This record gives sequence, structure tokens and C-alpha cells, in this order.
Amino acid sequence: MTFMNILVTGGAGFIGSHTCVALLEAGHQVIVADNLSNSKAETIDKIKQITGYGVTFYRVDVTEEETVDNIFANHSIDGIIHFAGYKAVGESVEKPLAYYYNNIVSTMVLAKASKKYCVNRFVFSSSATVYGENEVPFVETLELLPTTNPYGETKAMSERILTDVSRANPELSVSLLRYFNPVGAHESGLIGEEPNGIPNNLMPYVTQVAKRKLDKLRVYGNDYPTVDGTGVRDYIHVMDLAEGHVAALNNLTEGVHIYNLGTGQGTSVLQLVVAFEQVNNIEVPYEIVDRRPGDIAECYADVSKAKRELNWTAKRGIAEMCRDAWRFENG
Ligand code: UD1
Repeated sequence: MTFMNILVTGGAGFIGSHTCVALLEAGHQVIVADNLSNSKAETIDKIKQITGYGVTFYRVDVTEEETVDNIFANHSIDGIIHFAGYKAVGESVEKPLAYYYNNIVSTMVLAKASKKYCVNRFVFSSSATVYGENEVPFVETLELLPTTNPYGETKAMSERILTDVSRANPELSVSLLRYFNPVGAHESGLIGEEPNGIPNNLMPYVTQVAKRKLDKLRVYGNDYPTVDGTGVRDYIHVMDLAEGHVAALNNLTEGVHIYNLGTGQGTSVLQLVVAFEQVNNIEVPYEIVDRRPGDIAECYADVSKAKRELNWTAKRGIAEMCRDAWRFENG
């Protein structure tokens, strides 16, 4: 295997920081570009604490073309992993322009720099949200259905932009990674998910209820056609997801490749709550409330393509996800 110099945008964020750990542990060198809009500089030090290796850090906004150009001019970059982006679904409905601008322009700036500096590997952080309300399990060949929000649209559009750019410039190999529901934290408890304000996503909400920072979990609907009526998702441990990026980068071949990164297993909201309570021996009070607008009943991956082509599968189960999320909350 050849060791590479990888530019990780959004490398101080939740998935980005765990991916930096996995890249460094695999022997690669890492340059992080992050504006810290939803992350902290301390995370960069923690990556070093975990791995023993430092990263080169630039506090920059990836939508700024000249600034990004300077990074490429100063380093011999072999590959890009692009995480930087806004990711709150509800906020994207209220601030569509901010989402379209930030998430699309950053992809375009990086695609342009990749051509100028002959960087031939591009891994993009996409989401299972691009499938919309499709038939489960979601397989990469499904026709994408409209998502119900600007955030989802920015993911679908960025996928499209990178596909077209690679067609026009076949030297550029692209891997589009569609994440299912990343949760948990690094097992050291040093890095994890730190949402600003009240969390939107289930696991951080559960940990804050368990910690008594929030009074109780609101379970959004128990009348879905699922195992117990609550929403079913494919939760994936963030370190498995991080290792999926290393596999995608190491196995990148000519053209555009799409991979689901999930476990292939669906877990309902109540199953997750029970698992969390058992693993961590702590109570998570909850009440059932109305469905959340825009939610779908079930979302889980067909993971056979990633297994076949990347030789990657998720190794950690729900118990480890709950244990590590709780350890980070208490860290
Ligand atoms: C959400 C986004 C998705 C994004 C993903 C990133 C929406 C509608 N979708 O996915 O586009 O890619 O996060 O991680 O926001 N739940 C509760 N109570 C809560 C929070 C969630 O019952 O307080 C339920 C939801 O109804 C759902 C499940 O838990 O059934 C998971 O929700 P969440 O963690 O927000 O993820 P998604 O909605 O799957």
C-alpha cells in the first residue's frame, strides 16, 4: 500500500475527526481544512493524543477559492476527503441559500483545485438521505427520489457535480459515500459528537437525557409499519464509518463509484433506547409524540457492494455504539 497525503475538509468535525484517526493509523499523512463553524480546535490536539501523529491544520473556509488554492500550492496532495458542510436538516429548510452556497461552492472549489493540481482521488461525504422515500434495503443502483429538504439536495447535487467533473476529466477517480446513521465515538472517549444546542439526532439526544441535561426523549411516532411502530434506521459506529473511508481511498479505481456505508441492520428507536439502558445501566425516560415531518419509516442499507469492492464491513454493534457514545458524554 502506498501512503498518501490527504486533505480532509471538515477534519475537526464529528465524522472528519474520526476519519483523521483512521487515516493516521493506516499510515497516511493528513492536512485538515476546517473553519471550526461547528467544531473545536482542541479536537486537532486530541487526534494527536489518540494516534501519536500530528496533522497540519488550516483554519479556513473551503468556499474561499484563493485560500484553498494556497493549501494545494503548499502541499503535494494525493487525495481529498470532503466532509466540510452544513448538516442540519431543519435549519436547511429555514436557510436554503446558506446551505446551497456553502455545500455546493465548497465542492466546486475543491473539484477545480483537484484539476489544477492533478489530484486524482476524491472521496465525498454523501448521505443516505439522497434515496428519499425508497424501497428498503437501499441499494446503490436505486433511482434517487427527491429529498424533502435543501440539505439533502446539496448532497445529491454535489454527487452529480463530481460525477460530471470525473466524466470530463477521467483522471479524477471519485468515491461517493452514502452514510447511514453515524453514532458513537472513538473508544478513548476523547473525540465524539458535540452538537450545538439541543440535538436533532437520536443518539446525542439519548445521551443528554441519560445525563439529565434534557428531561426526556420524545419518540417521534409509534404508528409506523415497523417492528414496534417506531422509526427504523441503520446506525453505524463512527469508527467503522471512518475505516470505510480509508478502504474507499485505498481501493479507488478509475471512474465514479458509489458505496453505502452502513451495517445493513435496522434498529428501531425503542430498540436503541433499550440497548442504551442495558449496556450503560442507566434509565432513559421517554414519551411518544407525533411523527416528525419529513421522517420515513425505515432506512437501512444493502452493504454488499462495499463488502465486495472495498473489502470493508462494519464490525461494531449497537452495544458498542451505545457504550462509546455514553463514555464520550461522560468524558
Ligand atoms: C437525520 C436527517 C438525515 C441526515 C441524518 C444525519 C432528518 C429528517 N433526517 O436522519 O437527512 O442525513 O440525520 O445523521 O432530520 N428520533 C426520535 N426522537 C428524537 C430524534 C430522533 O424519535 O429526538 C427518531 C427519528 O424519528 C428517527 C430516528 O430517531 O426515526 C433517527 O433520527 P435522527 O437521528 O434524527 O436521524 P434521521 O432522521 O434518520
